[in-house]
Amino acid sequence: MCGIVGYIGDRECADVLVDGLRKLEYRGYDSAGIAVFQNGKIVVEKSKGKLDNLEEKMAKDGKPSGHCGIGHTRWATHGEPSDINSHPHGNKRVSIVHNGIIENYKQIKEFLIAQGYGFESETDTETVAKLLDYYYDGNPIETIGKMMDKVRGSYAFGIMFRDFPDSLFAVRKESPLIVGLGENENFIASDVTPILKYTKNYYLLEPGEIAVLKRDGVKVVTPENEEIEKEVLTADWDVDAAEKGGYAHFMLKEINEQPSVIKTTISPRIQDGMPYLEESGLTIEMLKNYRRIFIVACGTAMHAGLVGKYIIEKLARIEVTVDIASEFRYRDPLIEEGDLVILVSQSGETADTYAALKLAKERGATTLSIVNVKGSTIAREADIVIYTHAGPEISVASTKAYSVQLSIMYLLAFEIAYAKGKITKERCMELTKQLVEIPDRLSEVLVLKERCQFIASRLVNADSLLYIGRGLDYALSMEGSLKLKEISYIHSESYAAGELKHGTISLVTDDMPVIAVATQSDLLEKTISNVKEVKARGAKVTVICKEDAEIGKDVANHLITLPVMEDVLMPMLAAVPMQYIAYYTAVLKGCDVDQPRNLAKSVTVE
Ligand code: M6R
Repeated sequence: MCGIVGYIGDRECADVLVDGLRKLEYRGYDSAGIAVFQNGKIVVEKSKGKLDNLEEKMAKDGKPSGHCGIGHTRWATHGEPSDINSHPHGNKRVSIVHNGIIENYKQIKEFLIAQGYGFESETDTETVAKLLDYYYDGNPIETIGKMMDKVRGSYAFGIMFRDFPDSLFAVRKESPLIVGLGENENFIASDVTPILKYTKNYYLLEPGEIAVLKRDGVKVVTPENEEIEKEVLTADWDVDAAEKGGYAHFMLKEINEQPSVIKTTISPRIQDGMPYLEESGLTIEMLKNYRRIFIVACGTAMHAGLVGKYIIEKLARIEVTVDIASEFRYRDPLIEEGDLVILVSQSGETADTYAALKLAKERGATTLSIVNVKGSTIAREADIVIYTHAGPEISVASTKAYSVQLSIMYLLAFEIAYAKGKITKERCMELTKQLVEIPDRLSEVLVLKERCQFIASRLVNADSLLYIGRGLDYALSMEGSLKLKEISYIHSESYAAGELKHGTISLVTDDMPVIAVATQSDLLEKTISNVKEVKARGAKVTVICKEDAEIGKDVANHLITLPVMEDVLMPMLAAVPMQYIAYYTAVLKGCDVDQPRNLAKSVTVE
């Protein structure tokens, strides 16, 4: 989704803006632009495509020079990616950048056309820029307040008024925006990554608050111009976390970070060998009493929920329903007081997951969010939040966020099972101990990269691929399949292995490689029978299993074997080879691994 940065201070603004936009590239974008105050005028430069195009254009046109400005990476919603549709939008008096969607932009546009305004772009954003110009009466706060009254939808805006060359303005509703607080310089940004190299202090802007940034300070006010006291927050991500650190891609770096981020996520939640979630406000008593559990999320986060369902139901014997958030919000779900609704989200800003959260709250359920980004909307609005500590996940393809989401699912499952008397304290401690060992076991799995690279070389020419598994392996294979298709653009499907012969096996030929996940001992024989079925039809099969799995030599074409742990914990290990296979396949195909086409990291529109 779109990214916003803004700067006021002594540095050369265009450099700070472009550098900041590079930190936001991971969000996904198709064009970029900046506006800078230069000698009292607003100078705009924008270009379709990557930031390199913008830099080339500025090298030709002359880079705007000044100390106050706004920048934007656009992920097209209204109108194709083009120079004209790129942000900033506005005119000589006002310039804005926008993240979000203006629902009533057509009515506003008609109104403004009737007032004599002309429009260049197809965007919803340009209508807001012109609306601000229309309302402008010399008082920016009043003008922004009037605009907020008129505009419906989601937004984060960075705003410049020509008459105020020593000020930047920002406001948001639903789309994220933070205000970075430096020494004689201040920033706005869609998240903290662009500001980390200058400052770690920031404000979270609440919906409806207007920030006024000057070089030497920031004031946050209501639309009525009443000053609001804000809490200064400190980012706990360091600068290196948002850099590649010698890896070819962020995705590879993030795959390799998994042992350490899992440790950081689970360590504070274990006390005396037992899961301890009370610091988040989740007591044993509460966990004992929930009647049903719903897990609602999108994409990879939803897949983490599927693994959660299997383990919570298996260990705690409580019904768990997993929903895709975009379905949940419109299916009139049967939820009520006494239910626990768990929202899982890396970004904490996913529009459908947020809508599901609001619905669950309306219906009286307790809401628990498992979120990576501190202070994000879903984190703040859920009754209870458990933060994962993955650090910034820059690659669009989620890897480390998935693993830390899983690790929280395990702690929850163990604690609910214990709270409900389904496992003894000793068993709970034993399971927790095994979870603590996961980072070490994972380090052993990470060395399998050459093996996975070799398997990727066998998949790279396939048009389509099948992942199969049973039980937990099936839940896990869904994530493997998503990972492969989103970054390598090879079509793939994940299928319950036992369901193949009810239709899908007709697709299997020697052109259709199959990856079978077979880590569950009690289902091994069954899955291997399914592997034999597809192999008999010509498929080249890769089997991912435990080191001690007894599998005949000729059953699989390729084997990836994993350290032996209890079945229930195997998804934590088996995720890695699937991430590697997706990664190396995409690399071999020459794909843009970290920023796959059409995708955005944080999906803040429906
Ligand atoms: O930020 P979220 O976890 O809410 O995002 C949900 C999905 O958009 C996300 O997991 C997506 O499926 C991944 N980028 C896939 O790798």
